[in-house]
Amino acid sequence: MKKLLIADKKLEVANVCLGAMNFGSTTDKKSSYDVLDAYIDRGGNFIDTSNNYAHWAGTGDESETLLGEWLRDRKCRDKVIIATKVGFDRHGEGAGLKKEQIEYWFDRSLKKLGTDYIDLYYAHVDDPNTPLEETMAAFDSLVKKGKVRVLGGSNYDTWRFAEANMTAKEKGLTPYSVMQQRFTYLNVRGDAVPKYPFNEFVNRERLRFLASKNIPLVAYSCLAKGGYEVPERMPAENILGERLEFLKKMAADKDVSATALVVAWLTNLYRVEGYPVVIPLFASSKVAHFLENLDGAEIALSDEELNALCKA
Ligand SMILES: NC(=O)c1ccc[n+]([C@@H]2O[C@H](COP(=O)([O-])OP(=O)(O)OC[C@H]3O[C@@H](n4cnc5c(N)ncnc54)[C@H](OP(=O)(O)O)[C@@H]3O)[C@@H](O)[C@H]2O)c1
Repeated sequence: MKKLLIADKKLEVANVCLGAMNFGSTTDKKSSYDVLDAYIDRGGNFIDTSNNYAHWAGTGDESETLLGEWLRDRKCRDKVIIATKVGFDRHGEGAGLKKEQIEYWFDRSLKKLGTDYIDLYYAHVDDPNTPLEETMAAFDSLVKKGKVRVLGGSNYDTWRFAEANMTAKEKGLTPYSVMQQRFTYLNVRGDAVPKYPFNEFVNRERLRFLASKNIPLVAYSCLAKGGYEVPERMPAENILGERLEFLKKMAADKDVSATALVVAWLTNLYRVEGYPVVIPLFASSKVAHFLENLDGAEIALSDEELNALCKA
């Protein structure tokens, strides 16, 4: 797999990130290990989790706990980049980015993962009730102590992400150098309301912001929850129509799945003016699905094909 140097070359990550959200809860231990092992066998090294995955299907400790067991069993902590998060709710606790919340949940994440450092630590969602200075100082202190290598922000409005980084710059603190946000090939209906406040869909302005700041976008839910293959899974806010038909036709012509072509498009977007580096972040409970989608990152796209996909 192709590797990317991101965050001022502090992290070398695979150009596809594996989402471990359901591992240990709705995806059982054997299937989770199978997908993790298959990803590593293909040369992957970038794994995404959170302190609250998947609390809607359990306690919220399952994903980090399973990853901790897997890291221990496979003895591969030093070979993988672990991204985890703090700040989202879990059964009425955990929401917020105050100093004591970050410190408390960070220690719990370390224990579950069985590690003494995190490669990429994200604010999972904006916390408008805590001053940005307090949040950024708390994160910075983890970086300065050598416990976190790189910071990221997820589910921020673009202007708030920019404010967080301006605050960090003014105070000499570590900024966010990765953004994680929901993004797929299909456009989103203008009247679509995100599930949570601040959980905005990526638009062109956000992409230009990231491109101009050289900040990579880690794109979650980029497979449209499986909706490119199973129409009933397609989120209601996505606009179908001509763009979807164009994708499907090109996929058929190239003899690949529509989902794999979405992965190809995402991993090649950096070649198009006005787009940042995009790292698709996806998951599956099944190795066959996962590998077929991962193969998308190897599909060759000509400039004509890439531009045609963008313009469709
Ligand atoms: N920062 C955030 O707020 C946030 C929010 C959501 C997610 N995330 C991260 O992003 C990762 C992925 O997100 P996601 O699970 O929402 O979305 P996703 O990757 O877009 O979709 C995953 C779904 O796609 C299905 N799928 C894949 N290939 C398929 C195929 N060939 N045919 C049918 N179905 C197929 C999978 O089903 P099968 O299991 O049947 O293959 C799975 O249910 C998570 O693990 C998490 O790490 C972050």
